[in-house]
Amino acid sequence: MLYYLLVLHVLVHTSLASIPEENEKALWDSGQNGVKYPYKSPLTCPQHTRCLPISSCPFLNEVLNNECARSERLANLACGYQGSGYVCCPQMVQQSPSNQAPTPMVDGQECGIPAVLGRGYKSIGAYPFVARIGFKSTENGDIKYPCSGSIINNRVILTAAHCALAKSNTYKLYSVRIGEWLLNSDIDCGPEFCGLPTQDIPVSHVIVHPGFNEQIYKDDIALIVLSSKLNYSVTAQPLCLPEKWPMLGGTAVLVGWGKKAGENEMSNLQQVVHLPLVNYDTCSEVYSSVIPVTDSNICAGGEEGKDACSGFGGAPLLEQRGDIFYQIGIMSFGSDKCGMAGVPSVYVNVRKYIEWIYKNLPTLYN
Ligand SMILES: *[C@@H]1O[C@H](CO)[C@@H](O)[C@H](O)[C@H]1NC(C)=O
Repeated sequence: MLYYLLVLHVLVHTSLASIPEENEKALWDSGQNGVKYPYKSPLTCPQHTRCLPISSCPFLNEVLNNECARSERLANLACGYQGSGYVCCPQMVQQSPSNQAPTPMVDGQECGIPAVLGRGYKSIGAYPFVARIGFKSTENGDIKYPCSGSIINNRVILTAAHCALAKSNTYKLYSVRIGEWLLNSDIDCGPEFCGLPTQDIPVSHVIVHPGFNEQIYKDDIALIVLSSKLNYSVTAQPLCLPEKWPMLGGTAVLVGWGKKAGENEMSNLQQVVHLPLVNYDTCSEVYSSVIPVTDSNICAGGEEGKDACSGFGGAPLLEQRGDIFYQIGIMSFGSDKCGMAGVPSVYVNVRKYIEWIYKNLPTLYN
């Protein structure tokens, strides 16, 4: 079993002292019918989770109330002791030790941290930050999702301007789908548990960067403002926007539902692609005859077989610092020779647009 949910690397500290006081009491009092269980092998929870009764854990409670939740997997979530009805609950508001930078927050909760944690966990809820952008057919009402975006807060999706403004005679920007993982099922289930149904939220309006030039993908960035709030859940979490710090370099993570190098078809399952970051000078040479690549871009890919191909438009490129994912790029354009050595794809450098984003985030919420 590689995919432990939340808890299975927990047996690091088993001493009583390592369990917070509030949990200690609960451990003793929580036996059913007044039966007190011996305090045997109490399990502690991983970072960012807390041992709580299932009923006090909104995320898991919702998930488990869902008929599709797999009860036989519940034991894997247990903390305290087996049968206690306690789970390692993703902690939404985290107090940082005062000597560390404060954890970035969005809408009163941490951003950039999946609710499902676990070493090596890659399944449903591992990258809950991505939204799909829906276009509705004016002819038959069909909705297609050719682009992705990222959840910046509970009313705003960040995407590429070429996605937000895309239109044809028959398809118009219409809605955003939140909480998707596997495309062709109503309720998505991983090996451990199932998510909630996706949320489809109509678009209120779009804020496109005034410098956007669709011929050369300049300032290819836009905010999609939703007509109502999305609900955070185990498959819907906000991403953090980066600070002005220099890029870590190395690799970044692209998340979406596009085609990867060497694949012939789009994937139904959310794709997570680890891509090498490429210096923009190098990248600029590749595209300079057609499209100027500047430091307002980030380039990634460009190794044989390692690239995003079609279908990732607007998808977020992430950098992980500690436990936290920051969005450093928005998928903008690439070559039709994607996946060829020396031909990277080009992203909007989000860091260059942070001020624009904050200035244009709508402040009116209801
Ligand atoms: C968010 O949750 C509230 C309360 O459960 C519900 O009424 C609302 O429809 C949900 N929103 C979406 C977009 O699903």
